[in-house]
Amino acid sequence: MSSDAEIYDFAVGQTDPETFPVEAFKAAALRAIENEHDAFNKYPGSLGHAGLRRLMAERESVREGYPVSPEQLALTNGSMQAVTLVGQALRTGGDDYVITEEFTYSGTIAAYKGIGLKLVGIPMDEQGMRMDKLAQTLHEMSARGTLPRFIYTLTTYQNPTGTVMPIERKRELLSLAERFDVPVVEDNCYGDVHFEGEKVPSLFAMDENPRHIYIGSLSKILAPGVRLGYLYAREPMLGKIVSKRFDAGSNYFAAAVVAEYYKDGIWQHCEETNPSLKHKRDLLVAGLQAELDDICVWSNPVGGLFLWLRVPDDTDMAKLTRLANDRGFFFAAGAGFHVDYKAVPYIRLAFGHVPDELIVRGVPVLARAIREARTSNEPRSFSTLFE
Ligand SMILES: Cc1ncc(COP(=O)(O)O)c(C=O)c1O
Repeated sequence: MSSDAEIYDFAVGQTDPETFPVEAFKAAALRAIENEHDAFNKYPGSLGHAGLRRLMAERESVREGYPVSPEQLALTNGSMQAVTLVGQALRTGGDDYVITEEFTYSGTIAAYKGIGLKLVGIPMDEQGMRMDKLAQTLHEMSARGTLPRFIYTLTTYQNPTGTVMPIERKRELLSLAERFDVPVVEDNCYGDVHFEGEKVPSLFAMDENPRHIYIGSLSKILAPGVRLGYLYAREPMLGKIVSKRFDAGSNYFAAAVVAEYYKDGIWQHCEETNPSLKHKRDLLVAGLQAELDDICVWSNPVGGLFLWLRVPDDTDMAKLTRLANDRGFFFAAGAGFHVDYKAVPYIRLAFGHVPDELIVRGVPVLARAIREARTSNEPRSFSTLFE
């Protein structure tokens, strides 16, 4: 690749840098320093900055129509810390199983495997985790005496597939969790990155089971560099989880600035960023339609930052990666999101931070690489994403 070649970076899930509110954030930082510098001299405690907790509790309460108390919400270093703390708190050190979607966030897979949890992937369809397969797996695990420590699920704008679990399926999930007495961990990182259609309620708003856990983030509506996320859980679960943190609390300075920034309302920024992200999704889908309709199938995400693309079975994935990368096109290969790192004919395209014109110019580069990485010119033999 020549050094002045264009880079089409669809690999990492990041927000759109063009919509970051630079001036408002500068002003918020100044106000935070003026108002809160005394508190910067203290450790923030295990729950963290009270003002930001109030705002995030309000964010959840307003979106879900269900009251969330700031006292049940702990700020973390990105939602990734919340994901990890939950795994640490719920593991026993023996044979600890965790059920997830068959395809799930690569960071979670790495973190959970890293602390010795064994992941059991449930097959998916266009509506997320399949409940017939979940029921079957829970029955089998129960019969073997190896019920999972928890079910970790991405029900909304799933990473990597973009699926949304409808409310009826969520009810089934909650009822299976109840029947087998297994806590559910809902990671709703992308909850406010919404483009169109009805919003489905979160699991915590549908079920008051005190063992269920909810995870949120500021990375996807504001910026990952602020490293702020949170977990919401009832006692004694909340105490059990935060007892696993040894970092003296999350970054109080970042929380103070973000709280100042959001003090006048948390939705305005989403109203500005989501249309720009939706436009990127539309450009990507239109490009794929024009270039790859005869051989591929893809998701049309109604929110989130990712599109999941199924490539022909005869695609040599290593060759595809090499050809695309040599031409400046980067994506995340599907295997990284499979709970067993299985080689699968999928790739994830993260479109949130790619400039519009690079989406338009990038898709033909990807399309050419896919065609060249195949061993045939056969038209596609599948019509859906998961069958
Ligand atoms: C599902 C999911 N959970 C958690 C994270 C971690 O995000 P952060 O730690 O930046 O909040 C990500 C990031 O991509 C994600 O996709």
